[in-house]
Amino acid sequence: MSEESPVSPLEPPGLDEHAKRLARSAVEFHWDPAAINVRADQEAVSELSRVEFTRLRGLLAQFGAGEQAVTTDLAPLAVVLAGTDDQRYVATQLYDEARHTELFDRYWKRVIRPEEESRGLIPTDPMADRWSHDDYRELFDRTSNAMARLLEQDTSETRVQAFCHYHLTVEGILAQTAYRWVETRYSGELEEVPELPSLANGFRYLRRDEGRHVSFGVTKVRKLVNEGVDPEMVVETIDELVPLVETTIGQMIRDGSIGADRNEIFNRIDTARDRRLEQVGVVPSERT
Ligand SMILES: [Fe+2]
Ligand SMILES: [Fe+2]
Repeated sequence: MSEESPVSPLEPPGLDEHAKRLARSAVEFHWDPAAINVRADQEAVSELSRVEFTRLRGLLAQFGAGEQAVTTDLAPLAVVLAGTDDQRYVATQLYDEARHTELFDRYWKRVIRPEEESRGLIPTDPMADRWSHDDYRELFDRTSNAMARLLEQDTSETRVQAFCHYHLTVEGILAQTAYRWVETRYSGELEEVPELPSLANGFRYLRRDEGRHVSFGVTKVRKLVNEGVDPEMVVETIDELVPLVETTIGQMIRDGSIGADRNEIFNRIDTARDRRLEQVGVVPSERT
């Protein structure tokens, strides 16, 4: 691991065309969670078996809590990034994450809660402990700590660690893999699972936003590695987190979940990990 080096607070503004383009794209592809009509899903959830309804609640609760966590964890980046274009970009990401939280919040209130009531179930809180588990919490706690550390010590290395937790792993491996699976699962392609069109639609918007977020993090890490941060730090940071991603997604698809072959999903996690490493200029070797 290389010696920690301070980051210059004097990044000249206006030079990061990539951040500027991403910020522009966020405006261009704006969408409104309140414009997604959930009526079709309100009817379709009633077709879900009790097990499948509980699975759906678990997925949405974890995704909603995850989006809530990343919304509050991103702020330190807005404090430490000095360039105007970076700040403009991060403002769009903060807004994206807040909007993602709203999407899950609305869906819970308008689709899940009424269905719980019509089934005679005790209404549940999506933030309740029953919907998460230790490894899930550990993954988000570590990410929160890596982001908060930027405020105590802003160096190239702490930035790489923050981006590796937040943009490369939570967004670039966990969200990209899980969101794609859910979007497919409720898109009507599977005979055994009722289509939830507004949910699948919402996930398409989410994935497009997350693609932008990952792209920002990847570009930043690649630049920092080019400037001298030890690439081994990237590999170590991501590989310490991947097992937590595996247990989180493993829990989501447990019990022979339809539309998810466990090996295939775990291969997708590995592929996403390799892809993120390649994108930052690190040749991926076998995970140890
Ligand atoms: Fe998000
Ligand atoms: Fe994101």
